Amino acid sequence: MPQSNLLLGVNIDHVVTLRQARYRTMLASPNAEPCVLTAALEAEKAGAHSITIHLRADRRHIQDADVLLLRKHIGTKLNLEMGNTREILAIALEMRPDFVCMVPENREEVTTEGGLDVVGQCEALRSTVTALSDNGTRVSMFIAPDLEQVRASADIGAAMIELHTGTFANHTGPERDAEVRRLCAAAELGHALGLQINAGHGLTTKNLPDLWAVPHLAELNIGHHIVSRAVFIGLRAAVQEMLAMMATYRD
Ligand code: PXP
Repeated sequence: MPQSNLLLGVNIDHVVTLRQARYRTMLASPNAEPCVLTAALEAEKAGAHSITIHLRADRRHIQDADVLLLRKHIGTKLNLEMGNTREILAIALEMRPDFVCMVPENREEVTTEGGLDVVGQCEALRSTVTALSDNGTRVSMFIAPDLEQVRASADIGAAMIELHTGTFANHTGPERDAEVRRLCAAAELGHALGLQINAGHGLTTKNLPDLWAVPHLAELNIGHHIVSRAVFIGLRAAVQEMLAMMATYRD
């Protein structure tokens, strides 16, 4: 049986959420903890293939200085999630992350809620994809498993799509089965169009087995569950636990 080549991007935003809860106004303090770089290095030691962060317009967790620190010191790949704004694009062009994942961003949301509307914003997204790609960054679109969104992502020149697994994660039974079928169809089409297929949002060691019906998965981006598990077993063990589950994927 072929080995699983599924890669893991560990999203460490919530390590920084904890730091901001206490030190938002005292980031220069030597007491400011937990350290974002230590978290990234722990995840890497456990076998993470990339470090994922979301620099939000409201800077609720990751700060510009965190992006710079990680860019300089991590040994794997840096995956920057970003909304399509001029301000964040300028930062991404300067920092040159290995990957960018374009996400929708809404100030009121607790976390990224829906997929990006690539169909509706294709011209604005096309110029951002071109600017980032020309600067050496591989660009992904975080989209719902909707065939029109997959086609539009390929059409504007994205190299990858990240299929939004929030609906999958939040349902069980026949509703989850229906969402798995949508994810399969989106992955098949994306693969046929030459896109790398990633997935993320709400993934846990418990729900991943149900995701394994989806073909062509190359990379998962997982944050909340890993950081939650880390509270009890440590970050390194939490990443290793996730990687052990991911090793059971067969394309
Ligand atoms: N991928 C994208 C594009 C996201 O916006 C998020 C949430 O920040 C994740 C993956 C990770 O989701 P979770 O924290 O639920 O694992």
